[in-house]
Amino acid sequence: MATDTAPTNTEVHVERATTRDGEGIAALINFWAAQGQMLPRTLGETYENLRDFFVVRQDGRVIGCAALHITWSDLAELKSLAVEESTQSRGIGAALVRACVEEGRALGLDRLFALTYRPGFFERLDWEQADVMNLPRKVWNECYRCPKFPGCDEIAMILDLKPADAAS
Ligand SMILES: CC(C)(COP(=O)(O)OP(=O)(O)OC[C@H]1O[C@@H](n2cnc3c(N)ncnc32)[C@H](O)[C@@H]1OP(=O)(O)O)[C@@H](O)C(=O)NCCC(=O)NCCS
Repeated sequence: MATDTAPTNTEVHVERATTRDGEGIAALINFWAAQGQMLPRTLGETYENLRDFFVVRQDGRVIGCAALHITWSDLAELKSLAVEESTQSRGIGAALVRACVEEGRALGLDRLFALTYRPGFFERLDWEQADVMNLPRKVWNECYRCPKFPGCDEIAMILDLKPADAAS
């Protein structure tokens, strides 16, 4: 699907996930979840939401994943963004975000949001910090599963997809 070129000229191929990627996606997410970096996912949840996912593979193995989950008519969450530890800083994370943004535009969404501990990573991709209280309450429907609930310390990031002349 989307092809992105990292600064090292290494091509990053982002593709839609298939059922063969389910275990790899869940393993990658749960590796980072065990370190408190993101919410864990069961294998069942991963398959139920598989059509949200993009992946980057290396020799058939999932080394990066991200999901775009529609929340409302104008809004979607970029979630479950994870890149294998040994393949970080090669532009894979950025390529996955761009694939989600591309899909968000194709779907006609106005805004994307993400909850993250890595605001700097998103800011480099033109996302902006937002007041979490300005997000619709529906975005909190997964929070009760978080080990940190209700003491959320993630930062809300927003990307406006509307063209400037339509943003009135
Ligand atoms: C956040 C995360 C997805 C980024 O993935 P990544 O593949 O390393 O992302 P990129 O390579 O696109 O960019 C990462 C960094 O490498 C740098 N970089 C990107 N391409 C590079 C290249 N070719 N050479 C050198 N540096 C590069 C970027 O400037 C960026 O800097 P930063 O770490 O200061 O933000 C990854 O660190 C991760 O999986 N973290 C754990 C889970 C997590 O926090 N997920 C986010 C939840 S929303």
